[in-house]
Amino acid sequence: MPNRIFVPPPQALDRNLALEVVRVTEASALAAGRWVGRGDEKSADEAATAAMREALNSLAMDGVIVNGDAEDPNQPLHNGEHVGTDKGPRVDIALTAIEGVTICAKGSHNALSVVAATDSGSFLHVPQNVYMEKIAVGGRLPKGIIDLEREPEENLARVAAAKGMAVTELTVCMLDRPRHADLLGRIYDSGARVVLIDDGDVSGAIATGLPETGIDLYMGSGGAAEGVLAAAGLKCLGGQMQCRLMLRSEDEKQRARHAGIQDLNAKWDVDQMVRGDVMFAATGITDGHLLKGVRFYKGGAISHSIVMRSMTGTIRQLSARHDFDKHAKLHDR
Ligand code: FBP
Repeated sequence: MPNRIFVPPPQALDRNLALEVVRVTEASALAAGRWVGRGDEKSADEAATAAMREALNSLAMDGVIVNGDAEDPNQPLHNGEHVGTDKGPRVDIALTAIEGVTICAKGSHNALSVVAATDSGSFLHVPQNVYMEKIAVGGRLPKGIIDLEREPEENLARVAAAKGMAVTELTVCMLDRPRHADLLGRIYDSGARVVLIDDGDVSGAIATGLPETGIDLYMGSGGAAEGVLAAAGLKCLGGQMQCRLMLRSEDEKQRARHAGIQDLNAKWDVDQMVRGDVMFAATGITDGHLLKGVRFYKGGAISHSIVMRSMTGTIRQLSARHDFDKHAKLHDR
């Protein structure tokens, strides 16, 4: 076979934006990093949100937050907020300044800062603070291998067969919640292993797309907005995910309709949650399955990020050293 020469694809603008977006998640993760393990969720959230907003507003784009950190227009990073300099492409943004604010305050695993950006109109809009059922697997598996309609044992058996593994060799990630007791018992009975996480299911779901994490499936329910963020990451990794809203009250149903969802029982796959090309950036706040957390040293810090783009499938894992003294001097000029 002739050697294939790697030629970077066109659309320089989008490519540059993808690399700019990681500066945003670095900024919010560094701000949140100051509050890791200090038992103060509010201060952590405020610091990360302010840093993310400032960094987003420096990007050359005409951005609109469609799945943000709030529905209330008086809150920062709310749905509908315009971000960026206005001079650049029109993009829709999904984000969270801290995914796992409790973990951040407790100094435990899996807190991230996340931003995903896509063409206008590409993200599924979901209401804040509602749950979704979720199931996710990584890439290189037959399309449709997982389905929320199937029994969990059947999903496990199908994934194991496709991977050439025994069910007992599979590892499933799941939020440690009383509502998962029945599902957890059934997975234990099947013989598969389970990694229970306290919080942070964006990290848990995306981990299925990175073989080095050892996570084969994500199962269980979690936040809907987090589901769309995980779908953005998995789209870049070629993974599969299926989600369905779990609406518990008339208010939640109304808010879902208000977000534009007509069929409240619909199951969505990755391409229905994220229709267009998407770029995804995440920076670790605390150590987790996906990324290491922020490390401070005298005069600076190290951050660890992942930047991905679905169109090309390029995955960049970046470790950055930030010199606070030099940054401060630049700000003073
Ligand atoms: P927050 O950072 O908004 O607290 O989200 C953390 C998280 O664990 C998400 O990763 C997950 O989707 C959701 O909360 C699960 O909700 P609950 O804690 O109600 O089970």
